[in-house]
Amino acid sequence: MEELAELIQNGQAKRILVLCGAGISTGAGIPDFRSPGTGLYDNLSKYNLPYPEAIFDVDYYRKKPDAFVSLAKELWPGIVFKPTPTHYFLKILADKGLLLRIYTQNIDGLEFLAGIPDDKLVECHGHFRTSACIDCHKASDTERVKETIVQEMETPICIYCRGYVKPDVVFFGENLPDRFHSLLKKDIPKADILLVMGTSLQVAPVSLIPDMVRCNRVLFNRDKVMTIRPGDMFLQGDCDSNVEKLASLLGWALQTEELNDNEEREEGRGVERNQEEMKNIDKEDDGNEGEGGKETEVANLEKIHIETNKQEETNENQKQEDASKG
Ligand code: OAD
Ligand code: ZN
Repeated sequence: MEELAELIQNGQAKRILVLCGAGISTGAGIPDFRSPGTGLYDNLSKYNLPYPEAIFDVDYYRKKPDAFVSLAKELWPGIVFKPTPTHYFLKILADKGLLLRIYTQNIDGLEFLAGIPDDKLVECHGHFRTSACIDCHKASDTERVKETIVQEMETPICIYCRGYVKPDVVFFGENLPDRFHSLLKKDIPKADILLVMGTSLQVAPVSLIPDMVRCNRVLFNRDKVMTIRPGDMFLQGDCDSNVEKLASLLGWALQTEELNDNEEREEGRGVERNQEEMKNIDKEDDGNEGEGGKETEVANLEKIHIETNKQEETNENQKQEDASKG
């Protein structure tokens, strides 16, 4: 921990890349997916699913939308759950100009609510601020979708083709947002350090990021979910407690209360910056590039659940890398 604080303080870690998952939001009261006993996938009996990931499966949604609709009602951002100390730590990184980018797998919108700027945030598995029909793919009025799900507890219907509408959360088999691919390619060679926080690294392509970077990695997690390479650090345990310790070493005060301008933010940015605006933000990003380094190719990958053992997979990646080098 002291070592990490030192790297940040002495300017060696000034372009910090963050990869996070459900473990950074358990402190807010949102269960993660895979923790035995408490994770969502162990507590889905009420939804009567054939297998846990069916809740994020388009074909299943087309047949039985109720499970996801009920989860969406509970999770809908900005209603019940508030950002955690970890989210506010990430916000401080952004404020201090130390944040290269956050790649979050979370759909709870807490990074957004903590005030992390749009251009620093990639919501890899989507969000609830826009929505579309699963059949004709036309965009829907998300205020109406929210009302239908949260208040009426019904499945929203497409006004064009009568198909089911869902918030733009990335289901299994769907592609990640274009921004994920375009920004990751630029960010990988620039990162001074990668913070991996609260994720089991079970879902590709996000889970591949730790193997892509050349820089050192710091794992903030309850479990050792990746191989610790020489120079990496593993800060085992609750990420909020560890982040609080780190912030205190750095002399940073973590905001713990909700930003009082959240509502304005929701109205201002959120009901959503349109696609065109986001593209412009990403273009501006191109401007401050110019760092050398080989760009990592990331093909347009869809979201999949990885069944393999992470350790084996890491070894396999190493072998492939060695083979391609030789
Ligand atoms: P998982 O539930 O798979 O993993 C959460 C990880 O965080 C586990 O390793 C936990 O041990 C750890 N953890 C939990 N609470 C923690 C805490 N307070 N401090 C530190 N570590 C903690 O969640 P993800 O890796 O995010 O897809 O799951 C990836 C994707 O699988 C999700 O994005 C979701 C799901 O299908 C969606 O699209 C919604
Ligand atoms: Zn439609």
